[in-house]
Amino acid sequence: TAKLNTVAKAAGKKYLGSATDNPELTDTAYVAILSDNTMFGQITPGNSMKWDATEPSQGTFTFSGGDTIANLAKQNGQLLRGHNCVWYNQLPSWVTSGNFNASQLSAIVSNHCGTLVGHYKGQVYSWDVINEPFNDDGTWRTDVFYNTLGTSYVSIALQAARAADPAAKLYINDYNLESSSAKATAMVNLVKSLQASGVPIDGVGIQGHLIVGEVPSTFQSTLQQFTALGIEVAITELDIRMTLPSTPALLAQQKKDYQSVIGACKAVTGCVGVTVWDYTDKYSWVPSTFSGQGAACPWDANLVRKPAYDGIVAGF
Ligand code: XIL
Repeated sequence: TAKLNTVAKAAGKKYLGSATDNPELTDTAYVAILSDNTMFGQITPGNSMKWDATEPSQGTFTFSGGDTIANLAKQNGQLLRGHNCVWYNQLPSWVTSGNFNASQLSAIVSNHCGTLVGHYKGQVYSWDVINEPFNDDGTWRTDVFYNTLGTSYVSIALQAARAADPAAKLYINDYNLESSSAKATAMVNLVKSLQASGVPIDGVGIQGHLIVGEVPSTFQSTLQQFTALGIEVAITELDIRMTLPSTPALLAQQKKDYQSVIGACKAVTGCVGVTVWDYTDKYSWVPSTFSGQGAACPWDANLVRKPAYDGIVAGF
């Protein structure tokens, strides 16, 4: 049977990839599939490049977990997505403490992004420099960065990232950007304003945490709204969950849903690739986050391919 990265590349995409996480790397059967670069041409660290992992106390950087993933990508001949520089979640308490004024927090954001991106210079295809800046209604998320710096934290982070690794594609990444919505409009407007003021921005990441039977019909046109701005898009965290237990009917619908998401990316020239948010239900974040839901990935918890796998192949 066809391998996923092989079919993605044959369709003109740069990669079909997977998220992974450090604790899973002791599972040799899991790693064997992950490391096949005809299956996955790209990997993303699910946690180990986040702020709490990389700068747990101010000015002290710890890259060991991230380095493990970066080295795995290198060994396997896979692209690497960096994830992420600035996010309201998984922040160490020294950042959220509220103890910093604007000029201090500006320097902290700049130093964090510059040091993190600089550490992986030359190894990363694309970075999620900003993660999840918007609420679903298109207003800004009022996290410590916005509350202290207003929208300027976005350009501070992007400029620091560009200076640290000029070759890396710089992305803003968010969920619920899969349909035309207030949030997607807010993202379009943000990209336009960054471009107008000369701030570096290369792509928008569409996370793609979806529900079986609910892939938006405007998925493709929404991707095109972004690429029309002259930037690339990527589907960065694809999984399609269902209410458990899974049934043959739900798995068949999930196959169709994977196929239509992949088909939308295939149809849009500027959609460079698709990353599943881990390839197996064994290590999916879904059950622990969405109570009663799961079975969101293209491989089951026994590392056996599901109908969704064939949906991905068919979509390309
Ligand atoms: C998730 C990880 O997969 C989990 O292991 C962790 O406990 C929480 O974060 N959007 C993102 C990702 O951008 O960073 C999140 O990853 C999933 C939602």
